Amino acid sequence: MRYTVTAALPYANGPVHIGHLAGVYIPADIYSRYLRLKKEDVIYVCGSDEHGVPITIKAQKEGVTPQDIVDRYHKVIKDSFNEFGINFDIYSRTSSEIHKKTSSEFFKTLYDADKFIEKTSEQFYDSKENQYLADRYITGTCPKCGADNAYGDQCEACGSTLNATDLINPKSAVTGNEPELKSTKHWYLPLDIYEPFLKKWILEEHKEWKPNVYGQCKSWIDSGLQARAVSRDLDWGVPVPVEGAEGKVLYVWFDAPIGYISATKELTPDWEKYWKDKDTKLVHFIGKDNIVFHCIIFPAMLKAEGSYILPENVPANEFLNLEGDKISTSRNWAVWLHEYLRDFEGQQDVLRYVLTANAPESKDNDFTWKDFQDRNNNELVAILGNFVNRAVVLTNKYYGGQIPEPEPQSFEAFDKEIMDQFPKLKESIEHNIETYHFREALKDAMQMARLGNKYLAETEPWKLIKTNPDRVKNIMYIAMQITAGLSQVFEPFLPFSAAKIRKLINFEIVDWDLIGKCKILEIGHQINKAELLFTKIEDEQVKAQIDKLQATKEANQLDNFRANPVKESIQFDDFTKVDIRVGTILEAEKVAKTKKLLKLTVDTGLDVRTIVSGIAEFFKPKDIVGKQVSVLVNLEPRKLKGIESQGMILMAEDADGSLKFIKPDLSVTNGSEIR
Ligand code: MF3
Ligand code: ZN
Repeated sequence: MRYTVTAALPYANGPVHIGHLAGVYIPADIYSRYLRLKKEDVIYVCGSDEHGVPITIKAQKEGVTPQDIVDRYHKVIKDSFNEFGINFDIYSRTSSEIHKKTSSEFFKTLYDADKFIEKTSEQFYDSKENQYLADRYITGTCPKCGADNAYGDQCEACGSTLNATDLINPKSAVTGNEPELKSTKHWYLPLDIYEPFLKKWILEEHKEWKPNVYGQCKSWIDSGLQARAVSRDLDWGVPVPVEGAEGKVLYVWFDAPIGYISATKELTPDWEKYWKDKDTKLVHFIGKDNIVFHCIIFPAMLKAEGSYILPENVPANEFLNLEGDKISTSRNWAVWLHEYLRDFEGQQDVLRYVLTANAPESKDNDFTWKDFQDRNNNELVAILGNFVNRAVVLTNKYYGGQIPEPEPQSFEAFDKEIMDQFPKLKESIEHNIETYHFREALKDAMQMARLGNKYLAETEPWKLIKTNPDRVKNIMYIAMQITAGLSQVFEPFLPFSAAKIRKLINFEIVDWDLIGKCKILEIGHQINKAELLFTKIEDEQVKAQIDKLQATKEANQLDNFRANPVKESIQFDDFTKVDIRVGTILEAEKVAKTKKLLKLTVDTGLDVRTIVSGIAEFFKPKDIVGKQVSVLVNLEPRKLKGIESQGMILMAEDADGSLKFIKPDLSVTNGSEIR
């Protein structure tokens, strides 16, 4: 089998963060490293996505050229991937000549074969800037979910794909200008024509695709496919290569996926076998926001062209959140790879490990620094690091670092019981990787290290060395074979640590077939001195990261907070109608089956009454009993969840939306008026 593995081309408009790694680049890296170890013919291709509106907008905001932006971030992104051992065969870019040529020819082929429809339509236009407002140049309210920051092509809040002209209250994203409509000609790929093909190919022939991927495809197909424009009125991109197309470029989602092909061309003159041979498996690793482009539109393009293979699978991941919040570049809510490298020098594998163990494979997942620390300290240090260290230290101590010769007669049932589990685990890892279950595969690999640990803990060679040195030879022989196996099996997951283990045991070969074998290192083979594989991550390091995020959060809140404008003037008499008293909370309990409501019993100085208050998200009942608060006492009673609420507790709403009590600075008599 031959494999073409692609990872979504990241937009070169910013650095990459842990969400990118966890969702796309690490799983694809594990997969392709594994295939290479199995001596399959595999290429892993990627590159920077350098066209599209996010890039021109950023350039415009900074007052530089789009080329400046992509040059800057192409380098930053490429370096980060490199540092994390993301082992692309090629990391190319879509502003390259070879890509312009490839994507332009692709368009021309479809154009010449009459695969497009030409259509003139009205598009938004900013007459002050003399610019059409394509895609992200326009924002407005989402017609589907009502979010007020949807883009012309997509709403990030609800994930819907949109047409700019459907937006409510559209305005230019850069200038805020109100757009006009102006007619313009574009080329469309009639997706409806490919509907029968897509139905059969995906819905019938690829039922094994991940449920999240299959589900999205199905709902797209079921809701009816429409023609999609593949060109735009922009001055940044691949020019549309036909006459009468001045000022028009290929739509970024038309040219970018062709980037996989151009990258392959750049890699090897023998590129065609990776794209046109039926014995090649094409696998696209992407995030869930890319599903429709890789499962519907790009395949329709490939099908229209006619000479290409189609993806065998598109294992898209869900999203990774950070400390409970959506990762966001604009809110700086992210762990940037270049910053991680500065704060955790040489600890790339720790991040690779945590992001794999916690990958958002079937649902959105949360990255927390506490979990990061725990997994490092309790798993990498305590299990994998500890086992390898013990095995290497003891072999050095007892045998001058030479693999001892075992005594066949002193092998025990327990030895066999342990060793028997390795081939089974190996099979399980293979199955899991081949079906894109990388978390499970990593668990299996870790189980191998656990077995090693267990083996030494139960056989206790450090005790037996005095009483039964022959038995210890067997134990250490086995422990070293397990170590050698670990130096292979972790290669796809933790390449830096696997290489380090191989250095410790002075063994350079990397070969998947060695895993589970009992005779990897020969008798008498000389290993090196021990060195720690992992180091403990201290509480202070975690605290520093959490403090940094907290500071980001506060800065964002302050940035975003704008006090509401003052309300209409009122007369003093209007104000005196409002009767506010100081009262004391006597009892508090949650209102069943609600998230927000507390039922309070309040002594108002006039009476003791029940007030239902929407503060449950911010206060625990037991913490507020005995507190003095301000009570609006002459509010008409009303029923909330069947409880009559007789008044209202006054609260201040803070910049972050949290509520705080308004209370006297010193205790006063209940019933005192507030005026
Ligand atoms: N740049 C896109 C994103 O980050 C992904 C492009 S993938 C490709 O969402 F197939 F178009 F290259
Ligand atoms: Zn929406």
